[in-house]
Amino acid sequence: MNRKDWGKFISPSVDKQTPFYRWYLYKHGYSKRLVEQIIAKFKLKAGQSVLDPFCGGGTTLLAAAENGLNAVGFDIMSFPVLVSNTKMLRPSVSNVEKYEKKFTLEKIRVTKPYSLPDIKIFEKAFNKKTLNFLLKFRGKIDDIKKPALKNIFLLCYLKTLEKAGRARKSGGFLRLTKARNASQKKIFTQFTKFLDEVKTDLKAASKLKGKAQAKVGDSRKISSKQKFDAVISSPPYPNRHDYTRVYLLEEALGFNKNDKEIKWLRYKTLRSHVEAKKQKFDATGYVRPAKLTRAIKKLEKKDLNNPKIVEMIDGFFEDMYLTLKNVKGCVKAGGKVGFVISNARYAGVPVLTDEILRDVGKQAGLATKEIILLRNRGNSSQQMKEYNRLPARESLVIFEKSLG
Ligand SMILES: C[S@@+](CC[C@H](N)C(=O)[O-])C[C@H]1O[C@@H](n2cnc3c(N)ncnc32)[C@H](O)[C@@H]1O
Repeated sequence: MNRKDWGKFISPSVDKQTPFYRWYLYKHGYSKRLVEQIIAKFKLKAGQSVLDPFCGGGTTLLAAAENGLNAVGFDIMSFPVLVSNTKMLRPSVSNVEKYEKKFTLEKIRVTKPYSLPDIKIFEKAFNKKTLNFLLKFRGKIDDIKKPALKNIFLLCYLKTLEKAGRARKSGGFLRLTKARNASQKKIFTQFTKFLDEVKTDLKAASKLKGKAQAKVGDSRKISSKQKFDAVISSPPYPNRHDYTRVYLLEEALGFNKNDKEIKWLRYKTLRSHVEAKKQKFDATGYVRPAKLTRAIKKLEKKDLNNPKIVEMIDGFFEDMYLTLKNVKGCVKAGGKVGFVISNARYAGVPVLTDEILRDVGKQAGLATKEIILLRNRGNSSQQMKEYNRLPARESLVIFEKSLG
């Protein structure tokens, strides 16, 4: 089946004007509209529940709650959990304004700085003056006693980091550019602009119809007493993008993580990039699907620019097995599981993620009901030069837990 009309909804930028979603457009996230299409397809009704084991910027959670569903999400990183939970907060505008008054450039400049986590990239990304200002600004946020308001101010502050120094998010990584550090005034103006957006949305807000919450957790070992009616999610794609690098500044200045802690986090993430490492999970029962073995054999004959790619792809599907097995345990009999996923291509060899997942799901005890083609994406310019334009599918894979 093909729903290319939904393809345009696999991008967070669709929501750049949508109240609350626009508070943070998460890299590689999808949009409210896509989640709502899936909610309708699954015939979910108010009062039912949804799980998202890779919640990222919280799109599933917010869309579910707006539609009267209750939702729980997990992400292995702290920053996406903050983003998700903050989008669900509805404090009064007058309360936001009360705290905003305490935030002036003058007051920030005389605040005790936040303790500097040991992060090498800081020296390259920021000059001393900017870093000092950012630490004082962060220190000022810690003065906020009310958790909801603290989260909102923290998110607006962390958003300013994108253009405060030389580091830029680029594809699935963080790169140092030649950009100049922004002035203190500019950083502060950015912050107030983000806060204005928040206030505008809160002014017109109505109470969320459902309850939703995000927690830090690993998709391969989610434990939940609750059984969910459905799962709507998007795992990291096996495309080497590393969220711990993309969101390194946010994890460090938001949650005081140092290089060592972030490295450990990197190792623990799903094996969708080459630096993630096999963890001690019991994958007994998993057998590498024949389609995957064929792709791996072809890849082994290629001169790949990183020899760890084969191991990564192999590990990715084992991690998806562990995730799907866990998800099966969290879902009610007859419940549907929708995963938005992309195929990959390395050195011209296609890795058909959606079709391989059908086999992996079966091993985990979930039957595939449908694979819906959402869009065809062009491959990287490097691949294009060498192997011509061979598009990679992005699909919605729908599994179902049997009634028996
Ligand atoms: C494609 S993003 C999800 C985007 C989300 N659908 C949205 O709209 O914002 C995938 C997320 O999976 C998270 N992740 C990676 N490994 C994980 C793991 N083992 N368990 C849980 N989350 C993980 C990443 O941190 C990332 O935020």
